[in-house]
Amino acid sequence: MNYIELSKTGEQVSEMCLGTMMFGDRCDEAETDRILSAALDAGVTFIDTAEAYCQGRTEEILGRILNGKRERLFIATKVHKGIDGKSILEGLDESLARLQLDYVDLYLIHWPKHGMRPIEVMEALDRVVRQGKTRYVGCCNYPAWLFAYSNAIAAENNWTPLICNQIPYNLIERGAEVEVLPQAVACRTAITTYRPLVAGLLTGKYQPGKPIPIDSRGYRDARIRTWLERYSDAIQRFNQFAAKRGIQPAELAIAWVRYSPAVTAPIVGVSSLHQLKVATGAFDFDLSDNEYAEVTRMFDTAVKEEAGGKFPELRRTLDLVE
Ligand SMILES: NC(=O)c1ccc[n+]([C@@H]2O[C@H](COP(=O)([O-])OP(=O)(O)OC[C@H]3O[C@@H](n4cnc5c(N)ncnc54)[C@H](OP(=O)(O)O)[C@@H]3O)[C@@H](O)[C@H]2O)c1
Repeated sequence: MNYIELSKTGEQVSEMCLGTMMFGDRCDEAETDRILSAALDAGVTFIDTAEAYCQGRTEEILGRILNGKRERLFIATKVHKGIDGKSILEGLDESLARLQLDYVDLYLIHWPKHGMRPIEVMEALDRVVRQGKTRYVGCCNYPAWLFAYSNAIAAENNWTPLICNQIPYNLIERGAEVEVLPQAVACRTAITTYRPLVAGLLTGKYQPGKPIPIDSRGYRDARIRTWLERYSDAIQRFNQFAAKRGIQPAELAIAWVRYSPAVTAPIVGVSSLHQLKVATGAFDFDLSDNEYAEVTRMFDTAVKEEAGGKFPELRRTLDLVE
């Protein structure tokens, strides 16, 4: 496992961030415990969770199984209940109680919302840092302009800046290349990327023309069915490429995300110990420039909007409050 500096903090985190969204959902507490132990054994120190996962159950499970492991981990959680000052302050207290922790390492705004007041958000985030309840703050799914605007407010008021933007990034969702990734490189802010496997689409288990496996997220997530139809040729070529190179499709998908110099850490979601073991393998090799270009061409994704489905709407309505 490689370790990488998180923005300009001097903080080293593992290049793989363990996604926990399926903990308590597609895997029970005992399997979650095994996954966490194996992740630590493989050198993973960076964990991503959220208040919203399983209505708080994911954080509760982590709270029970983190025992004795906390000091080795860099833990990020997110607030989703609201984007006003009160929700940001209360949300962290509630997360800390579920996680059975005194502080987290990174506290993130989960989604920008209509009518949000960036000044109120930044003030509240600064306050939780000063209270010692989190060491750093960041956001998810922010367009570049909102990230820059928020940090300009922080600089003006001598408040803690956002150091990280967490965004979707994978072979079929590449909008972040327009603004978000160049901004991160220019400002040396951290980028953690979610959905590297396209929610499992690029793991080889979804085969074009074949039924969706019953024991999979795809069985209940209509997006996977849609993507499978739309990208069926590309997925077949992608799976063949992985087989020829002697790696798992999931490893290839993660290696493609890692190729970007703007990406600090891909957040890999796993539902089983086996999947964790496959995922960690993706951090043992690099794609060559030619391999990266060949895989990218297979999907021929239009790179035309920032990232996350809600951005264009927020941009068009300009619904921010002074
Ligand atoms: N900030 C945000 O707005 C946001 C949004 C979404 C996610 N996230 C974070 O990002 C993490 C990752 O996102 P994600 O889980 O949506 O996407 P992902 O990492 O692209 O996909 C994870 C899914 O892929 C399947 N999978 C993984 N390894 C596999 C393997 N080797 N073989 C077969 N299937 C495999 C599993 O599905 P099955 O369960 O079907 O086995 C797993 O749940 C989340 O856990 C969460 O921490 C953040």
